Amino acid sequence: MTRVLGIETSCDETAAAVVARGRDGVPAILSNVVLSQIEEHAAFGGVVPEIAARAHVEALDGVIEAALGEAGLTFDDIDGIAATAGPGLIGGLIVGLTTGKALAAALDKPLLPINHLEGHALTARLTDQLEFPYLLLLVSGGHTQIVHVAGVGRYERWASTIDDALGEAFDKTAKLLGLPYPGGPSVEKAAEKGNPTRFAFPRPLKGERRPDFSFSGLKTAVRRAAGELAPLSGEDVADICASFQKAVTETLADRIARSLERFRRTCPDLAQPALVVAGGVAANAAIRDTLEDLCRDEGFRLVAPPLKLCGDNAAMIAWAGLERLEAGLAAAGALSFAPRPRWPLDENAAPLFGTGKRGAKA
Ligand code: KG4
Ligand code: ZN
Repeated sequence: MTRVLGIETSCDETAAAVVARGRDGVPAILSNVVLSQIEEHAAFGGVVPEIAARAHVEALDGVIEAALGEAGLTFDDIDGIAATAGPGLIGGLIVGLTTGKALAAALDKPLLPINHLEGHALTARLTDQLEFPYLLLLVSGGHTQIVHVAGVGRYERWASTIDDALGEAFDKTAKLLGLPYPGGPSVEKAAEKGNPTRFAFPRPLKGERRPDFSFSGLKTAVRRAAGELAPLSGEDVADICASFQKAVTETLADRIARSLERFRRTCPDLAQPALVVAGGVAANAAIRDTLEDLCRDEGFRLVAPPLKLCGDNAAMIAWAGLERLEAGLAAAGALSFAPRPRWPLDENAAPLFGTGKRGAKA
């Protein structure tokens, strides 16, 4: 039995969790505590790094204690400490990683500095015991990318946004329509009552051979439509949101199909290849439906972890730590690992213009 404590503080959630793999090889989440700071940041319409770091300092000890308590364990029962070391907001990363280092040093247990994106990438192995290789679509506030996941620590980025992340496009659209933060759920809710055909928003890069994404043109088109109609009625807002979401789903289906084809060519022997979706935007029901349809058409299995594990959490960090520990990848010198606000999952991927410029969220 291997048990790992995970700590996640890269953005606006203070989180701690314990995961385990039993002798039968089956993974289990023993606890998963997530304390959201949404209320602290709501008045500012976005995450304020200083407020986030301070809130992590205040909450983290209690959150770790709660995670151990919920699992019915003490520090003695833990085999390793995993902490997010990047990418993310530097203040939060310092709080979480330093806490992890202190615990590891005091308890004489291995420390596993984890790339937050690796946490998202490996979650499907925790929830669905998925075998390598598979394709990952990561759609969050700071990232939009497709990654070929070949094994623990073996990631190849096949596609990425060349400007805004998809969650960022949702957040900016919400902000300019006066909808509350966080924007994704607000836009989705408003879209339910709207007419998706009223506005002909662009489908950026649709039909192009390159597999990448682009969302800034879409956001600009929304701004123009909103400006022309101002002041906006409730119906206008709903119609803009519905038309925006329609443009997003159609664009995603077109772009992702490129990488599904490539995966088929790369791994022709897999009976049923899998597409895993991760990141906060994966909570969007219209996007999930689109991915279901696309996967059905292309002969893929869609693996969408439960909502609680799609957004940021520490179970995924603990799990990545457990996978690394079991694979013998616990790094020597981990106690002096410096947090990395920018840390691509595929270190060999050429940077794309504008990619991850917000850099703060993953
Ligand atoms: O992965 P995540 O929890 O945090 C990071 O970005 O690290 O993702 C948050 C992002 C935000 O941009 C939020 O607006 C978006 O996910 N989001 C959604 C929905 N729920 C959250 N976007 C669209 N529809 C949703 N239902
Ligand atoms: Zn994330």
